Amino acid sequence: MSGPGELLRAQALSFGYGAEPILRDVDLSIDPKEFVALVGPNGSGKSTLLKILLGLLKPDSGSVELFGVEPSRFRERWRLGYVPQRPSLGRELPATVQEVVSMGRLSRVGWRARQRPADRREIEHALDSVALFELRSRPINELSVGQQQRAFIARAFASSPELLVLDEPIAGVDTESQQRFRDSLAHLRREHGSAVLLVSHELGAVAEDLDRVIVLKGAVVFDGSPKELVAQGVSLGIHGEDLPLWLERLG
Ligand SMILES: Nc1ncnc2c1ncn2[C@@H]1O[C@H](COP(=O)(O)OP(=O)(O)O)[C@@H](O)[C@H]1O
Ligand SMILES: [Mg+2]
Repeated sequence: MSGPGELLRAQALSFGYGAEPILRDVDLSIDPKEFVALVGPNGSGKSTLLKILLGLLKPDSGSVELFGVEPSRFRERWRLGYVPQRPSLGRELPATVQEVVSMGRLSRVGWRARQRPADRREIEHALDSVALFELRSRPINELSVGQQQRAFIARAFASSPELLVLDEPIAGVDTESQQRFRDSLAHLRREHGSAVLLVSHELGAVAEDLDRVIVLKGAVVFDGSPKELVAQGVSLGIHGEDLPLWLERLG
């Protein structure tokens, strides 16, 4: 059973693609407005866990409630934004960047609703926050994979979801883009009260904004405040390189 208002609650999740277990007895919950980072070494099961939480994979055992229902029965898609680690373009997609991002907004306000100034502002803000405003009229399938990834992030931002789930959205981007990303998350949380579940190795830019860090290594090996993690000698801030090193030493 979820507590009142919990956005997401998973209990005792176990999963393997084959005989080998990938996730063991994972518990995880996200409250409204919480900003939670999910970290762990490559191959530790982060993307797999997200897919189970969102109903794209079925756990071998355990339970998930997404907005209070089993993920396969969840229908209110606009409440959730998800940007997978490697989003793929439908080959059929001839849309411009701006149209793709507008789809995020339409999923929230309804397909028949006319765009209001507030909607246009959100769309422009989302485009700007991923540095795609200048490219907004280009067909998305003419963009680089990295730019397409940013368009999908902007689409999720534009829908103002109650829960935004991002799988390594800023891997390898420069400091300026990380700062821009931090600002757009802050905007989303301030203006719309969105909760965020972020998988990333680069937490330096958002370290001060985080409510909680979950460290996954097949099982959850840490779930607490950034402060508690720092107390274990791990720095998320200035020494951004500490985290990956510490993760490798675990277990
Ligand atoms: N579709 C799949 N089929 C089989 N094994 C997979 C599949 N996807 C991921 N794996 C394996 O499951 C483990 C966890 O992968 P993943 O969840 O992508 O980890 P992370 O996101 O933390 O890097 C890895 O060993 C990976 O090779
Ligand atoms: Mg992954």
